[in-house]
Amino acid sequence: MESKERDEILKAQIALNRLPKHIAIIMDGNGRWAQLHGMARVFGHQSGVESVREVTEAAAEIGIEYLTLYAFSTENWNRPNDEVNALMALLVKTIQAELPTLNKNNIRLQCIGDIESLPEATRLELLDAMQQTAHNSRMTLILALSYSAKWEIVQAVKNISEKVSKGILQPDEIDETLIANELATKGIPDPELMIRTGGETRISNFLLWQIAYAELSFTKVFWPDFRKNDLYEAIIDFQQRQRRFGKTGEQIETFL
Ligand code: FPP
Repeated sequence: MESKERDEILKAQIALNRLPKHIAIIMDGNGRWAQLHGMARVFGHQSGVESVREVTEAAAEIGIEYLTLYAFSTENWNRPNDEVNALMALLVKTIQAELPTLNKNNIRLQCIGDIESLPEATRLELLDAMQQTAHNSRMTLILALSYSAKWEIVQAVKNISEKVSKGILQPDEIDETLIANELATKGIPDPELMIRTGGETRISNFLLWQIAYAELSFTKVFWPDFRKNDLYEAIIDFQQRQRRFGKTGEQIETFL
């Protein structure tokens, strides 16, 4: 079967009225994919860009409102310098190249993470692209860059403590909404579906607060091989799960 035909068959199985609003993806397996093909790790990252393109397009087409991609973690700074530099250069190049497509498709680019720690060229390119797409409204593509959930929570605790120490905030005013509003994802609904490619079944310091009730989907597919059909399959599987949020199955069915 042609892959386009296969994609259409899968796409038709998605209930468009029950889509996850926000999907987050841990794009893993670039290095192993490259090694499997006898190439340098960097080649895996370059090939991963095509998957970013496909998945962004597929998500926007079906009506996903927010797509978050874990592109670079706080811990990734510990990789060999060459790989870090290549990844930063790839980001600049990709953002530059994709900006017209983002605008054409009405996609807004946002970023979460310690932007200040990025090399200047990457940071400036990113800020420019965010500004140029700020009014787009079809879907928000969020790149997690120099991001880790523990870093984000530390920042939030510092900000809240400062407000308390200045007397702007009373400790008993601290609730879940207040904390959520101090996170990098302020204003962005929590992901309902989190996908990790590459065969590992861990969260790796990604959106720890926000995934409290997310459905998790793990696939062995390496990120450079991840295509539209893989996204559709994860969404179809998500839609077959019963999301109970601490209630019983009977309560959920009665409510439906
Ligand atoms: C994890 O694979 C992947 C990354 C650390 C980088 C992801 C970056 C891209 C796909 C390129 C550009 C992205 C954008 C948004 C333009 P890994 O290297 O940890 O793989 P391994 O586990 O097989 O070693």
